[in-house]
Amino acid sequence: MSKKFYLSDIQKDFGIIGHSLEIEQVVSTVSQVAFSNISVLITGESGTGKEVVVNAIHKHSPRKHKPLVSVNCGAIPAGLIESELFGHKKGAFTDAKDDRRGYFEEADGGTIFLDEIGETPMETQVRLLRVLEQGEFMRVGDSKKRRVDVRILAATNRDLREMVTQGRFRQDLYFRLKAVNIQLPPLRKRREDIPLFIEYFARRYSNFNNIPFAGFSPDAMEILQNYEWEGNVRELKNFVESMMVLEGGAPIKSEAVHRFLFADKPESSIFSSNQNLPVLTGNTPSQAAQSVILQQLFLLRQEVAEIKQQLSTGVRQMTHFLPAKASKTEEFQPLSEPADKQEILVVEEEKSKMTIREMEKKLIVETLKKNHYSRRQTAKDLEISERTLYRKISEYGLQ
Ligand SMILES: Nc1ncnc2c1ncn2[C@@H]1O[C@H](COP(=O)(O)OP(=O)(O)O)[C@@H](O)[C@H]1O
Ligand SMILES: [Mg+2]
Repeated sequence: MSKKFYLSDIQKDFGIIGHSLEIEQVVSTVSQVAFSNISVLITGESGTGKEVVVNAIHKHSPRKHKPLVSVNCGAIPAGLIESELFGHKKGAFTDAKDDRRGYFEEADGGTIFLDEIGETPMETQVRLLRVLEQGEFMRVGDSKKRRVDVRILAATNRDLREMVTQGRFRQDLYFRLKAVNIQLPPLRKRREDIPLFIEYFARRYSNFNNIPFAGFSPDAMEILQNYEWEGNVRELKNFVESMMVLEGGAPIKSEAVHRFLFADKPESSIFSSNQNLPVLTGNTPSQAAQSVILQQLFLLRQEVAEIKQQLSTGVRQMTHFLPAKASKTEEFQPLSEPADKQEILVVEEEKSKMTIREMEKKLIVETLKKNHYSRRQTAKDLEISERTLYRKISEYGLQ
């Protein structure tokens, strides 16, 4: 059996698409490490398939019948992450009404996937190292040592080595995590995989939704193969699915592709999807000015919201009051007004709600992109608390 045949066979089993040398190497490493307990660090830009690799490793490990617990370290506010990971003892903090198991205990016997590991606060990193080295941890507020048998997989789109140099990531944890490092190159560095992905996503979508698929014209394919795909495979998948819906089963031609990929991205747009912009403000003075205005609008909205809140509830309750536990399902509460102010404010709100909310959403999306989806940095840039950002991300369905 040739190596190639053997690889493509297990590759199917892993659900990892691609025939580039890079993907072959990934598949080969996955098959080597899946059976062991070794920690694996998976690096790559957003949308390159890090989670696909995680699933393949877990599903082909002896732990496959036990849970795979995924934790997005970047989505949990710094103050909550330890209790989420390690659990807490009743009374450890105001909201700790009961003893609670953390994700590590949930994953016992299985695998824990720490996504966006680069966002983990330094204090938490110490605890993680301890679990990695000794399999031991304590719930927050507890003095009892607990043991778990958990395999750790971690992923990041950050350069952890650079973060180590800057003193923002612990070197010992870094070395420990990257016992094996699987690097997923951006899609633009393995363009030969693009047609394969297009075919795969189109066929799958077509079967699943009963939409016929008549293929892409050769010049359409050429555009797609040369496109930058900054959102990598995720962006390509969304693109293929959108095209199939928009073209309703007709062959997909270059005009349609061009229209979709470029029409909504005029060069002057401050919401251009270029994630490589060094700063939010783009590269022309007018773009810079527009961004500053947006940011100011955003801050203004925050202030107005805070003032309204104070009007309605008295100064007692500030908008920056932090609940001990932010819930993912927490809805954005429209601010209620005292009866006498209600009429005027409601009318004003009706007028401005859509635009300001839209702007706020866009600003958040753009700032997240600029910061490679680091919520911590985004909150800093926008001068709001991480919890507020967390709430807004779920409010706008940006998960
Ligand atoms: N090599 C691959 N084979 C099959 N699907 C892939 C591959 N790489 C990415 N995808 C698909 O692209 C999307 C994004 O992948 P994901 O693993 O979530 O990326 P990441 O975690 O790096 O942001 C998912 O829908 C995933 O199924
Ligand atoms: Mg991911």
